[in-house]
Amino acid sequence: MNTPDPKLPDRNLALELARVTEFAAMGAAAWIGKGDKIAADQAAVDALHYVLARTPISGVVTSGEGTKDSAPKLYHGEEVGSGGPEVSIAIDPLEGTRLTAEGFPGAIAVIAASPKGTMFDPGDSVPYMEKIATGGEFADLLELDDPVATVKKIAARKGTALDQVTVVVLDRPRHGDTIAAIRGAGARVRLILDGDILPVLLAADESSAVDMLWGVGGTPETLIGSAACRCNGGQLLARFWPRTDEERAVGIAEGLDMERIFTAEELVGGDDVFFSCTGVTSGDIVQGVQFRDGHVITESLSMRSRSGTIRRIEGVHDLAKIEAMKKSAAAG
Ligand code: FBP
Repeated sequence: MNTPDPKLPDRNLALELARVTEFAAMGAAAWIGKGDKIAADQAAVDALHYVLARTPISGVVTSGEGTKDSAPKLYHGEEVGSGGPEVSIAIDPLEGTRLTAEGFPGAIAVIAASPKGTMFDPGDSVPYMEKIATGGEFADLLELDDPVATVKKIAARKGTALDQVTVVVLDRPRHGDTIAAIRGAGARVRLILDGDILPVLLAADESSAVDMLWGVGGTPETLIGSAACRCNGGQLLARFWPRTDEERAVGIAEGLDMERIFTAEELVGGDDVFFSCTGVTSGDIVQGVQFRDGHVITESLSMRSRSGTIRRIEGVHDLAKIEAMKKSAAAG
């Protein structure tokens, strides 16, 4: 992709990508609360595929849903778009499949893009990474191997007691010791069922009570969280987290460095990063899909690193027209 004059406005792909995540969210929303996370994920993938194929980009999926849970997915290396600027794509058509199926808050459809070749290619042999993330004001304080020390430094910089620092952590047995250590130091832990991309956005939002994210989560989510940081000024550090010796060996054989700690800039580079997410179920950052009087209402967050612009976009979609479009798409 050509590097345009940074002082002049040009095409903002984050706006195109908002259409993509809107459709994925609307697809998934049909399955909210129905107890079937695979069907919800499949609906998001199908809807996202449909719009992405018509989006004027030449994209390559660098990070999609990995082998973690055999989810329906967009494949690593898959070419997407109808032709246009060349970009690498990190994508999660439905982040929070269980949240959607069980009607919990915080599910989103999300996608990120950067100029082709500027996104680190994680392959899909090691589906988890350990990560720590925060907003721009604490970016230099992060220590991946010592979240408790990080929390103490955040409290010192804020000039507050430790109980004024809140860390979001996925509620998983693997996090038990660190959760106890963070709480033992006097800070607060907010446990979440799923969805560790939204806390990266929350940590960068000065009006939120969240200061930091820590824990082991999906590799695609780590790439997408890094793209968010590139756009909102936050920072994320991450390292691969193989679950078994075999997974470690496969990762190493594929050229991955298991010891390296990556920054957000190393995972998603380039001078023009785009991010879009749309709420499926309502959460702290975006409202979920609502069905009202023959219309579907969506809320999206669209961000671009080069301009630093963050947009909140409400979409009011005509349900009958969307259904007609789906029928003609199905008819080929
Ligand atoms: P899905 O997109 O599969 O719903 O991912 C939800 C999620 O909670 C991510 O946010 C997180 O990175 C990952 O799963 C954690 O994996 P696991 O549930 O296997 O601990």
